[in-house]
Amino acid sequence: MANWDERYAEAIRSGRRLFPAHASLGVVAALDMLEKLSPAPAGAPTAIDVGAGEGRHARELTGRGYVVTALEGSAVAVEAALGRPEPGISWVAGDAGHWRPAAAVDLVLAAYLHSPDFHVSSVLGNMTTWLRSGGQLVLVGHAVRNLTRNVPGPKNPAMLWEPTQLAGELARLGYRIDFAGHIDRVKVRPKRSRARQDVSSDAVVLATLR
Ligand SMILES: C[S@@+](CC[C@H](N)C(=O)[O-])C[C@H]1O[C@@H](n2cnc3c(N)ncnc32)[C@H](O)[C@@H]1O
Repeated sequence: MANWDERYAEAIRSGRRLFPAHASLGVVAALDMLEKLSPAPAGAPTAIDVGAGEGRHARELTGRGYVVTALEGSAVAVEAALGRPEPGISWVAGDAGHWRPAAAVDLVLAAYLHSPDFHVSSVLGNMTTWLRSGGQLVLVGHAVRNLTRNVPGPKNPAMLWEPTQLAGELARLGYRIDFAGHIDRVKVRPKRSRARQDVSSDAVVLATLR
């Protein structure tokens, strides 16, 4: 995690954030879709936000009633988060490929879990052990189709996500696929700019563990 640790340390030093404070439009749209397809269980449903970063999506989940474990591979990011506690979010440092929760949860969210060291496919098996039967997995990440566009996100094709490929892997792991496709995020340029709008596609998969 040296690379992410350095990026978070540099951001902390310069008093800025690596990511916007608000949830991404792709994650909001995916969670809205999930709520329509199958509402969260009553009470206090539990969730893991894996690769939680600065916590914007963990926060989005608590706003929707979840009690959230924010799992993050960068010890620097976790230390920073522990210094600004938020109700309903417990931070833990751990690797998505090996870490195990104390109890199975209702929902796992992996939002933009991109790293030069691995593809999300390689950690889906471990993430599956975190869910109860009937639990839901939400994957939202930069899509392969963004490669030919002038949009933010990784430029290394090996780090990008293809929803049908992810859906196939999840089906083999025992999931029912509720949605696999793209959600487009349109970035509106300032009025005076003559450049056309950039469309960034998120690869999104919603799946339920059988
Ligand atoms: C692109 S950032 C996304 C952060 C957050 N999900 C968001 O959307 O704001 C990817 C995050 O995944 C974390 N990460 C990378 N590899 C990881 C791993 N093996 N286990 C847990 N977290 C990891 C990084 O430290 C980083 O915070």
